[in-house]
Amino acid sequence: MPTTNSTLDFPPSFHWGVATSAFQIEGAASEDGRGPSIWDTFCRQSGTIKDQSTGDVACDHYHRYVSDVDLIASLNVDSYRFSISWSRVQPKGYGAWNEAGFNFYSNLIERLAEKNILAHVTLYHWDLPQGLQDLGGWLSRETPQRFAEYAAEVARRFGSRVASIATHNEPWCTANLGYGNAQFAPGVADTALSIQVSHHLLLSHGLAIKAMRQVTGDAGPQYGIVLNQWPADAATDTPQDEAEAQWEYARSVEWFMDPIFKGYYPQRALDRMDMSRFHVMDGDMELIHQPIDFLGVNYYTRAFVSAEKPPKEPPGKLGFTDMGWEIYPEGLTALLIGLKHAYPNLPPIYITENGMAAADKITDGVIEDRARIDYVYLHLKALQAAMEQGVDVRGYFYWSLMDNFEWNSGYDKRFGLLYVDYASQERTLKDSAHWYREMIQTQRHGE
Ligand code: FCB
Repeated sequence: MPTTNSTLDFPPSFHWGVATSAFQIEGAASEDGRGPSIWDTFCRQSGTIKDQSTGDVACDHYHRYVSDVDLIASLNVDSYRFSISWSRVQPKGYGAWNEAGFNFYSNLIERLAEKNILAHVTLYHWDLPQGLQDLGGWLSRETPQRFAEYAAEVARRFGSRVASIATHNEPWCTANLGYGNAQFAPGVADTALSIQVSHHLLLSHGLAIKAMRQVTGDAGPQYGIVLNQWPADAATDTPQDEAEAQWEYARSVEWFMDPIFKGYYPQRALDRMDMSRFHVMDGDMELIHQPIDFLGVNYYTRAFVSAEKPPKEPPGKLGFTDMGWEIYPEGLTALLIGLKHAYPNLPPIYITENGMAAADKITDGVIEDRARIDYVYLHLKALQAAMEQGVDVRGYFYWSLMDNFEWNSGYDKRFGLLYVDYASQERTLKDSAHWYREMIQTQRHGE
């Protein structure tokens, strides 16, 4: 497979980054006043996490952020995407703020600035304060109100010091995995509820954007949202498979994109969904349908949709990752071009996540992860193809900076550019990290 950098040609202004999230790396779960989140609770329930692990220590980033920022800088990236743990800065999700928690993020942002790295903040990467869950969590219309207060406080404190603030990371996952099939916290399996949760998540997005803009005015950072997306390909051209693929696209991509960029839910999704718990109030759609400054797209694979039982498996011509996800770079091109056509008012896009899990092994301090290099290279080629066809993409963040807590897979799945030895917390640059650093250098200098 050709993986030389010479065929990549991104504009010099293109942003290069790496991404993480709070629960997956920070650890220090009960230090300095942090309150528990729904993931702390979920990890303690039996049968939820493959290796029965927790986020108590994770990558110990809370104590190691100084040297971790040095490692980020060593990769040549100019941007770092991380999330704020809500229960670290407001232990219950309502009431008192925790200054020690805010200090941690303030210090992190400061350290990034010293290294000329732009800070891209996500407010909600799945770790709802348990205190709010106890009051109904995302099923309650009060939670979006609390979220907007939290967002406003973050904007007040950090708005002038960060490049962007995204409200949510992948609300599809919160709704469908948290409430649809119980794979994620809080572990509820009820499709009708998951639909109402998705509405409250979108509502909270709208309320937060409005609240943050009120705080920072024109001087604020870029405000947006991060959505996980995939094009949905029918396994065959039978009408059944085609219909199933359209439904998949409607319920996963359009369900979030249409309210934000058009102001209404897609009819073809509404037609098939269980609406028994769905309740939209006057004014909700206007709040959700507010202009945003950027859209973050997380892309890992396509949806390969088959109406058969059991469903047809994707061909996987380029193989599958350690998560079992089909490697399908051209899906990224198709997805982005589809978005451009469907949403003429699309703001600039950032690829806020893309990456692969591999069964990495460290031998004499070396991690040969050729497959990851190929994966990134091919996705960058696919991204470039979309940009050449007019899609406005401003940056790319590799997921993830380092191996970390991969939710219900525990520490078993390694996505990092840095290998983490969890016993010693030592980080080692994988071959892909060296490649990424050199690739960025080449792209900046056009060599
Ligand atoms: C995304 C999540 C991220 C990570 C990657 C592999 O869905 O946003 O936290 O788990 O998948």
